[in-house]
Amino acid sequence: MAAFWSAATERKERRTMTEALPRLFAPATLAGVTLRNRIAMAPLTRQMAEADGTPTAEMVAYYARRARGGAGLIITEGTYPDDGPGCRAYLSQPGIATARHVAAWRPVAEAIHAGGAKAILQLMHGGRVTDPRCLPPGAAPVSASDTQSGGWVLYTDTDAEAKLRGITGPWPKVTFGPARALTVAEIEAIADGFAAGAARAVEAGFDGVEVHGANGYLLYQFIHDATNHRTDAYGGSVENRVRFARLVCERVRQAIGPERIITLRLSQDGVDDFTGAWAGGVATARAIGAALSDCAADALHWSSFAWRDNRDPTSDTPMPAALRAASGKPMIANGGIDQGAEAEAALADGAADLVAVGRPMFANPDWPQMVRAGVPVDLVPFDRSYVIRPPLDHAHADPRATVPPDWPTVW
Ligand SMILES: Cc1cc2nc3c(=O)[nH]c(=O)nc-3n(C[C@H](O)[C@H](O)[C@H](O)COP(=O)(O)O)c2cc1C
Repeated sequence: MAAFWSAATERKERRTMTEALPRLFAPATLAGVTLRNRIAMAPLTRQMAEADGTPTAEMVAYYARRARGGAGLIITEGTYPDDGPGCRAYLSQPGIATARHVAAWRPVAEAIHAGGAKAILQLMHGGRVTDPRCLPPGAAPVSASDTQSGGWVLYTDTDAEAKLRGITGPWPKVTFGPARALTVAEIEAIADGFAAGAARAVEAGFDGVEVHGANGYLLYQFIHDATNHRTDAYGGSVENRVRFARLVCERVRQAIGPERIITLRLSQDGVDDFTGAWAGGVATARAIGAALSDCAADALHWSSFAWRDNRDPTSDTPMPAALRAASGKPMIANGGIDQGAEAEAALADGAADLVAVGRPMFANPDWPQMVRAGVPVDLVPFDRSYVIRPPLDHAHADPRATVPPDWPTVW
């Protein structure tokens, strides 16, 4: 009897929890596409594609499972839109550059739709942090200006992984060659490449695309004043620094029309600068938001590991709230949202219209169902040994690639 009562009480508490998340499970509309709730799966690079960038059956199963888990929107891992030099950032990264890629993405989009979610494909260009093995021999990576990334530990940094691969000593930090500043003609060509990739994504069945302007990659390198030293129309003022991202969104819109979703992802930090911050903090976020208010994106997407942490000691305003207010655009807020109540708070506090959930949905494909049922979810710490899997097939990596001699050979 006691067990019966406690189960009934638990059920009641769970109902109460569902009722306590009214915003999270309300439908949302972006560019005329209706989402069943306000939960997006954040883009997560997994390096599960074939060496030529073709999506695999493993990817179909991975995304299908997370759509069935209840997300309203799935944002795919960063994908390269064309075969231009330096566009592909990682080995085993998927592309949407060829007819073969389109054919292999189609079952992914279909499986996501069958699971009741909508799907957008994230398009990215690596810029100065492109893996050197993805560049033609001797080619310099490209960026906003002639700068050089300090590098980062690309794949893994845990002792267990090192042991598995027979590496003794510390993991080598991957270093990148000095980057060359893009010409205006090259900027235009890259924007056209994004547009062509977006058209192929729609052909593959996606509901739209996300333009990756965050996390240290090419468009971020233009937006961030630390990496953009240009003196032309693409450098200097905030308006100039967001010009490339705006151009990409505009060309993508021309390519895919008004009824497909375009989101633009932004962040303060990057893969080679995890503590990065915008000079000017929240005031800069407001200026960036204002400069993007009439851009062709339907929504902005804030990328971080802690959405409330604005890294600005002079303000309490979370960055997604500042960007949302200044741009007047819907906001997808991301970073450390692992409980239903936290998601609801981001929606209630005026910081977001949707939330994007990365590590929790990576670890728990049923995260939306779990928070809906009031089941507690354990915090998933960031640990490269489980979140980033090594590339599948190094031996068949791009034959044009060169491996710096000081890199480990055991990969
Ligand atoms: C393994 C891993 C891969 C990631 N890959 C991408 C990516 O391809 N594109 C992107 O914009 N962000 C990427 N991110 C960042 C996540 O989308 C997200 O911003 C981050 O995990 C913080 O959100 P969370 O606290 O919900 O996990 C990645 C993060 C992790 C941990």
